[in-house]
Amino acid sequence: MKIAVTGAFSYSGKYIARRLVERGEQVITLTGHPNRPNPFGGKVKAYPLNFDEAGMTQSLRGVDVLVNTYWVRFDKGENTQPRAVENTRKLVHAAKAAGVKRIVHISIANPSADSPLPYYWGKAANEKAVIESGLSYAILRPTVLYGGEDVLINNIAFFLRRFPVFFIPGDGSYGIQPVHVEDLADLAVEAVYSRENYVIDAVGPDRYTFKELVQLVGETIGARRPLISVPPRLALFAAQVISLFVRDVVLTPEEVEGLMANLLVSKEPPRGKTLFKDWLNDNWKNVGVRYASELKRHYA
Ligand SMILES: NC(=O)c1ccc[n+]([C@@H]2O[C@H](COP(=O)([O-])OP(=O)(O)OC[C@H]3O[C@@H](n4cnc5c(N)ncnc54)[C@H](OP(=O)(O)O)[C@@H]3O)[C@@H](O)[C@H]2O)c1
Repeated sequence: MKIAVTGAFSYSGKYIARRLVERGEQVITLTGHPNRPNPFGGKVKAYPLNFDEAGMTQSLRGVDVLVNTYWVRFDKGENTQPRAVENTRKLVHAAKAAGVKRIVHISIANPSADSPLPYYWGKAANEKAVIESGLSYAILRPTVLYGGEDVLINNIAFFLRRFPVFFIPGDGSYGIQPVHVEDLADLAVEAVYSRENYVIDAVGPDRYTFKELVQLVGETIGARRPLISVPPRLALFAAQVISLFVRDVVLTPEEVEGLMANLLVSKEPPRGKTLFKDWLNDNWKNVGVRYASELKRHYA
């Protein structure tokens, strides 16, 4: 098969593409950074992910399955989440025009057209575009990814390592059910070869409260800190101040809202196998040693 994976030089797309290359498939990528170092040694050819429909149609000719990881975590200038919804539509249209047969689309757990949060209504709109395309599809809905190159879990560890206290928005009793990036990649590969249309949550087996998770990370990396419950606004303010120093957007208001509304847990049985605790025990020396910057990843 010929398979296109968006973002094969970035995070989850790289793990998905790696599995497909190892299976001997012909893999190409659409990326906003075609000149980044190619981790596949040239085995994965890069095309621009620039949302020019005609250009993307040309790039996708001959592709059987498109695996789409594209999304933007927060608005920056004209690169907004509503724009990312339009961009996703263009990508889906281009796939259809190019003769792609199936789309494996990475969404998020608990998307909703009624959500006041652009991340969640945007993801619902994207799913609709995929389903209404008439192409065969699988939609995978992860919660929060971890596994070495992630942002959230790594940066929680980073702040625990560097600051004497950790601010928890609210009481920290809301849930978080992380999924390992390799488990998401396994589900994506399974979805590439399936012929069924389906929408599933892609979450790991552990469900913690946010406070429990931060506590576990702190204990395991040897940075046990007092966890102080503060009003969400104060936690966000602190995150904004720190953002100035790390030159990033550490946390967005909608991420805090989504987290506190229990949107990072699934109502379905877990499909990921990796236990967060095991991974943390194996990797504690490296987690959070360096800050993971979203801005550096996508705008540098
Ligand atoms: N990471 C998580 O914890 C998490 C949790 C739940 C759901 N998800 C979903 O899983 C999917 C993959 O996430 P990921 O973390 O693996 O993403 P990623 O690899 O960092 O990025 C995926 C793709 O989106 C593009 N992209 C990301 N931010 C962009 C921006 N600001 N402007 C333009 N293009 C941008 C990337 O472009 P380049 O190719 O140029 O890098 C790449 O092609 C996304 O749909 C995300 O919403 C992720």
